[in-house]
Amino acid sequence: EERPAPRDAREAALAALRARLLADATLPLAEAATQAVFGEGPVDAPLMLVGEQPGDEEDLAGCPFVGPAGRLLDAALAEARIDRARLYVTNAVKHFKYQPQGRRRLHQRPDTGDIARYRPFLLEEIALVRPRIVLAMGVTAGQALTGDARVTLSGLRGTTHELRCGTPMRATVHPAYLLRLPEGEGQRREHAMFVEDLCDAAAYAG
Ligand code: URA
Repeated sequence: EERPAPRDAREAALAALRARLLADATLPLAEAATQAVFGEGPVDAPLMLVGEQPGDEEDLAGCPFVGPAGRLLDAALAEARIDRARLYVTNAVKHFKYQPQGRRRLHQRPDTGDIARYRPFLLEEIALVRPRIVLAMGVTAGQALTGDARVTLSGLRGTTHELRCGTPMRATVHPAYLLRLPEGEGQRREHAMFVEDLCDAAAYAG
C-alpha cells in the first residue's frame, strides 16, 4: 500500500491547493464573488463535511458555514457532541452564486456545469485529508462527490457508499433545508434525523 505523505507535506499541499483556487480567475463564479471559500479544518481530520457552496456571509468572511446554515450546523454538532475543530468542513462549489436583487444577493443553486468545474478541488481535498468518511450535506454535495448528476438525496441517505477514490461517503440533508421548514413536529423530526446522521458519520470516523 502507498504510504501517506507526512502531515506537514499534506498541510503544505492543502495550502498550495487553496492558493491555486484563490488565483483561478477562469472558474465560472469567480468574478461575481467576493472571494473563494476553501475548506477549513485539520489536514488529518477523520470526518469531512461537504456542503453546497458558500452563502452571503461565507462569501464575505472567506470561511465555510459561518452564516445561518453554519449556526444551525454548529448547534446540531453540539447536540451530536462532535467538536467542529476536529472536522474538515468544505463545499462542493467554492464561490457564492447569487442573483442580485436590490441590495440583497439571493442564493442560486449551482448547475451541473458549475459542480463539474469545482469538482477537482473537492477531490484533491479528499486525496490530501484522506478522511475515514465524507458526509455529503444536501444533494449538490452528493452529486459532486459521486460525479453523478442523477443521484437523489433519498437514494443516497441511510447507506454508506464508496466513492471512486475509495473513500466511504454517507449523505444527509443540507442544514439550510432545516432552516426553511416551518416550525413544528416535522421540523423537530427532520432536525433529529440530521443530528443522528452526524452521529452515525462520526461513529464511522471513530
Ligand atoms: N451553505 C453551504 O452549503 N455552505 C456554506 O459554507 C454555507 C452555507
